Amino acid sequence: MKVWRQSCAAVVLLCLCVYNALAAPTTNKQTERKINILNESGSKFAIYWINPQTREGVLMTVPDVMHGASFPLNSFVGHEFEVREVPAASTGLCKSEDQVCRSTSFEVSPGDEQTFTINKHYEIKFVDDKVKAEEQASQIVQDCKMRATTKLAGAAGDAAKTQEAMDDLVECVEVGVASSLAKANEELAFQASIRKGMAEQMENYTCVDLETDTTPPLETKRWRSEKDKKVRNVQILFNRPSSKIHVIDNFISQEECEAMAAAAEPRLHQATVADGKGGSHFSEHRKAMQAGIRVHWEKEKNGDKIAQLSRRVYDYANFVLDLGIEEHGQEDLMSIQYFGRGMNDTAPDRYTPHCDGDCDGLEHKDGTRMATLVMYCTIPEFGGHTNFRNANVHVKPKQGTGVFFSYMDPDSKVMDNGFTEHSGCPVYEGEKKIVTQWIRYGVDAENPWDSFNTLGVKLSEVEDY
Ligand SMILES: *[C@@H]1O[C@H](CO)[C@@H](O)[C@H](O)[C@H]1NC(C)=O
Ligand SMILES: *[C@@H]1O[C@H](CO)[C@@H](O)[C@H](O)[C@H]1NC(C)=O
Ligand SMILES: *[C@@H]1O[C@H](CO)[C@@H](O)[C@H](O)[C@H]1NC(C)=O
Repeated sequence: MKVWRQSCAAVVLLCLCVYNALAAPTTNKQTERKINILNESGSKFAIYWINPQTREGVLMTVPDVMHGASFPLNSFVGHEFEVREVPAASTGLCKSEDQVCRSTSFEVSPGDEQTFTINKHYEIKFVDDKVKAEEQASQIVQDCKMRATTKLAGAAGDAAKTQEAMDDLVECVEVGVASSLAKANEELAFQASIRKGMAEQMENYTCVDLETDTTPPLETKRWRSEKDKKVRNVQILFNRPSSKIHVIDNFISQEECEAMAAAAEPRLHQATVADGKGGSHFSEHRKAMQAGIRVHWEKEKNGDKIAQLSRRVYDYANFVLDLGIEEHGQEDLMSIQYFGRGMNDTAPDRYTPHCDGDCDGLEHKDGTRMATLVMYCTIPEFGGHTNFRNANVHVKPKQGTGVFFSYMDPDSKVMDNGFTEHSGCPVYEGEKKIVTQWIRYGVDAENPWDSFNTLGVKLSEVEDY
């Protein structure tokens, strides 16, 4: 009996695992959904979108697909649709028994991969990734249970044979889970490739539309700094283990911006000269000018503005990721400036889509970047928004605001797979001044950031060979 109980516990645990893994909840509360309508009605129907304000039905143009075929529809979570049977052209009558035209309705839910099947009774069968995962998990368990039951019947109370049947049951579920997970991963990779394809078109649209506002938050939080005792509002715009995007109000003060600008001023020139571009200050697709500012930590206790700011950056990173990040060995703070040269500029200052660290979905490489904090000091009149095209997140700069984004899962150390790719949209009018800190994981005083190469290999170790 003990064997039974242990094995059953193991099976239940596995089932929970398969369920959780296959139906990993999408924390991303984006409201757009691509839904599928499957036609098994056997008759002609029309689909109406129900206007939530007026409750009027708006006829949708949908392809006339055959029985058993489906077609996609772009929609939003919470939208309602009505399916109305259309009378046959020849008779003017509907196909139901009493020849009255039938109708049904459905609402778009938050799930991914939603399919609404309209059957011949005009009932809707709903399936999404979660339902599918549940069905899959329950199927695996059913099949395995059948096998075990047969074996147990044959064991006839023999302890060794009973044990064997139970081991078999566990293994059966394990194998089933593993293959389902592999399929789920392929599916995710496929979705990611489609998402990225769509993102490319979105990028141009979002950056060009200078009126675009900041994406509404999934959630609003407050962060209290132990250092300055201030409470700041935080908007969570994207929230996945490996990819987080937060906007923090009043992160950088006017004085801190000025201190950074003053420290950057003499170095900005050096940066352009060292650029090797023969005195031209602007490159075409990249930031205009930048200067690294070393933090004088010994002045922190005397109220040095730059040290205080930098401390706040690490405090916030630790608040979110809880990785005990320290200042030792981290990169310098960076002052970056973009200049607008008018709406007709064909090569405006911008930063085309890129990831700050690795965004390949692989494991983090020691000593490389895993989070960024961008702080807006000077806001341009037109342009200069920050756009995360793969996450469908857009940030309209606001004076003093900080944008924090992390691209490593603090638990598994797996990197983001593209959601934190971002761009600095073209700056057309005015000036954009930002302060950026790239935060690394695995650096310390003995192993500073510049002692690693981009593969996360210590340069000293490379030289040993
Ligand atoms: C659904 O299938 C039926 C039967 O094949 C067909 O007559 C009808 O036009 C289809 N309806 C739609 C909206 O595609
Ligand atoms: C976006 O804009 C760039 C430059 O204006 C252009 O080269 C590119 O083809 C555009 N991409 C799409 C998908 O429209
Ligand atoms: C930009 O170009 C348009 C059309 O070529 C012209 O009418 C306008 O005056 C220009 N604006 C500026 C600021 O140069």
